[in-house]
Amino acid sequence: MSRDSKDVLERIEKEKEGYLEELKDFVRIPSVSTDPRYKDDVLRCSEFLAEKMKTAGLEVETLETEGNPLIYAEWSGAAGRPTLLFYGHYDVQPVDPIEEWRHEPFEPTEEGDLLVGRGTTDDKGQVFTHVKAVQAILEERGELPVNVKFLVEGEEEVGGESIEKFVREDAGRRLGCDAVIVSDTSMFAPGQPSLLYGLKGLAYMEVVVMGPNRDLHSGSFGGAVRNPANALCEIVSKLVDPESGRILIPGFYDDVRPMEDWERQEFGKLPFDEEAYAADLGVEKLHGEEGYTTLERTWARPTCDVNGLYGGYQGDGAKTVLPARAGAKISMRLVPEQEPRKIGRLFREYVEEIAPDDVRVEISELHGAQPVLIDVKGPIAEAAKAAQEEIWGAHPVLIREGGSIPIVATFAEVLEVPILLVGFGLPDDGLHSPNEKFNISHFYNGIRTIVRILDRVGEAAGS
Ligand code: BES
Ligand code: MN
Ligand code: MN
Repeated sequence: MSRDSKDVLERIEKEKEGYLEELKDFVRIPSVSTDPRYKDDVLRCSEFLAEKMKTAGLEVETLETEGNPLIYAEWSGAAGRPTLLFYGHYDVQPVDPIEEWRHEPFEPTEEGDLLVGRGTTDDKGQVFTHVKAVQAILEERGELPVNVKFLVEGEEEVGGESIEKFVREDAGRRLGCDAVIVSDTSMFAPGQPSLLYGLKGLAYMEVVVMGPNRDLHSGSFGGAVRNPANALCEIVSKLVDPESGRILIPGFYDDVRPMEDWERQEFGKLPFDEEAYAADLGVEKLHGEEGYTTLERTWARPTCDVNGLYGGYQGDGAKTVLPARAGAKISMRLVPEQEPRKIGRLFREYVEEIAPDDVRVEISELHGAQPVLIDVKGPIAEAAKAAQEEIWGAHPVLIREGGSIPIVATFAEVLEVPILLVGFGLPDDGLHSPNEKFNISHFYNGIRTIVRILDRVGEAAGS
């Protein structure tokens, strides 16, 4: 085996445009898991990926679930060597607001170094770095330096229920490994490789407020009954203190693990320009929980946000109507040791208590995810850091993130191995937003980084 992976890196140089074309085909399949109308496309996408993994030289199995198929694959020809498990997801978010896209969201378009399209960075392009790294090594050498397994799901964007069930039932039998590698996150900044050690959890609630049995004329009936939309706004206004940014649900902070001193110090050392950040987002000033910096707020403090509001007339112009019902979708992003179920219950109790008693309120829990903090250490983590430094020419930083990847906490709990969150995206990739993109250079460097991780882990195990 080559100590510097030169053989494989040269092959990647020759093949990379072809890899990019294949990635475009992957992105062309609108595998939107949140919308049942895309069910066939989601299935087609799983077949597409399974085919690509077979071509890469892996033994592939499509596992049917109650939801979308899980793709499991492996190559286990390196007896006695470590095993790495690669995780990713092939489903994507909806494209709305469609009118803000510069191109068709499912027609991936190159703009200089950018590949623009839904799913390019979240997570198809990143999943493809794993597949293509393995393919390049197998084509060049006919064998891998370590054993690999893949588990790629099609329900991450809707909470990952099927994979959760699978991983728990498997209990480390088929999924037994020495480390999990996930590329579904971003680097801290351009040119700055990053290793994530924390993801937030999630409790996602929907509140529906119901009043009269039908929409009413807001002149004839206004003043006679409580307006559910007004009531909903009153409820929402009592969730977060507008001044201090503190969440007002009793007990909400009880289990929050405070940041460690070293974390606050390390976050403080990262080159983060709050003014530039605000300017990029088009806001005059930033806002959040009092007493914390922006990185602390987004990475390590829990939050509560309205994600959607509905009720009453939404069309152009003015229709005078008093709506019969109104609703809100509200996410609470959680940090260790907050428990999504418990937080959901506290939310429910509080909203029921503050809701006026002359409307009916229905509260449901749409998603949950456990927050996670990972102890990034051991030989495989060291190999990953060294590989990142080699390929990107900079020492990786340890960071946390505000997003969630529901299965990661389960991996940590069930498999009890290190989990390496090595993402190749950038903070401005626009995941879940219009014009999502993945830098093509990051796609290529991602493949190279994975190759170096595999070779380095193989070397450390003695070749
Ligand atoms: N890849 C993201 C998670 C992420 C985003 C990690 C930004 C780091 C930085 C993932 O696909 C995602 O969007 N997760 C959802 C999970 C939810 C639907 C249960 C999220 O965080 O909203
Ligand atoms: Mn993702
Ligand atoms: Mn996502």
